[in-house]
Amino acid sequence: MSVLTLDHLGYSYGERSSSVFQNICYQFEKGKVYSIVGRSGAGKTTLLSLLSGLAKPTSGKILFEGNDIAEMDKYRYRSQYVGVVFQSFNLLPHLTALENVRLSMDLSGKKYENKNEYALRMLQSVELDEAKAKRRILKLSGGEQQRVAIARALSYHPEIILADEPTGNLDGETQDQIMDIFQRLAHQDGKCVILVTHSPAVAKASDEVYQLSSK
Ligand SMILES: Nc1ncnc2c1ncn2[C@@H]1O[C@H](COP(=O)(O)OP(=O)(O)O)[C@@H](O)[C@H]1O
Ligand SMILES: [Mg+2]
Repeated sequence: MSVLTLDHLGYSYGERSSSVFQNICYQFEKGKVYSIVGRSGAGKTTLLSLLSGLAKPTSGKILFEGNDIAEMDKYRYRSQYVGVVFQSFNLLPHLTALENVRLSMDLSGKKYENKNEYALRMLQSVELDEAKAKRRILKLSGGEQQRVAIARALSYHPEIILADEPTGNLDGETQDQIMDIFQRLAHQDGKCVILVTHSPAVAKASDEVYQLSSK
């Protein structure tokens, strides 16, 4: 069953601007990795912000498990069902990896038995051991920071993971490792993973590729 459905989705940044895209119909399923591709300015970041509930469609709808997200509690949708990995990671550089994950757990408002242990487990699931978990973000490599950002997005068990250029600043080998994590999240844990990418290697390693074409 589809977890996210785009139903004649359209968006424009204001009444006088022309639309970025219109009439998109598409279905995203659990258990798959999707790549959204398209040239610069095609609307990839705009589409992700609509999927994350940050922006509202100007025409058409986005359905989450059959419910129009515009009619759902926006805060609940954003804090429980979707995990977003930003291009710039958005981590707090002076805090440790562990503290960054714990902070987002606190913000989600969910209850956890043992926060510290749970956060360590999330970091371990992206191959960051306890020593790395206790290191400040500033002292981690780009690939490690990206993994902290993924662990943070996973900490409240969202069904959907959204990531904008998640491998953009990483070398080829690190990119492959990050892609392995996304594939495992989809294929083993049954998440719906949606990536925006310029990388042909990332697109090739995805289950489905959605080409966003500009008019
Ligand atoms: N805040 C904004 N206000 C007005 N236009 C915007 C804004 N953000 C993006 N755009 C325009 O919307 C189009 C799509 O942008 P974007 O989604 O960032 O594309 P991509 O991520 O594919 O490069 C571009 O033409 C861009 O100039
Ligand atoms: Mg973009």
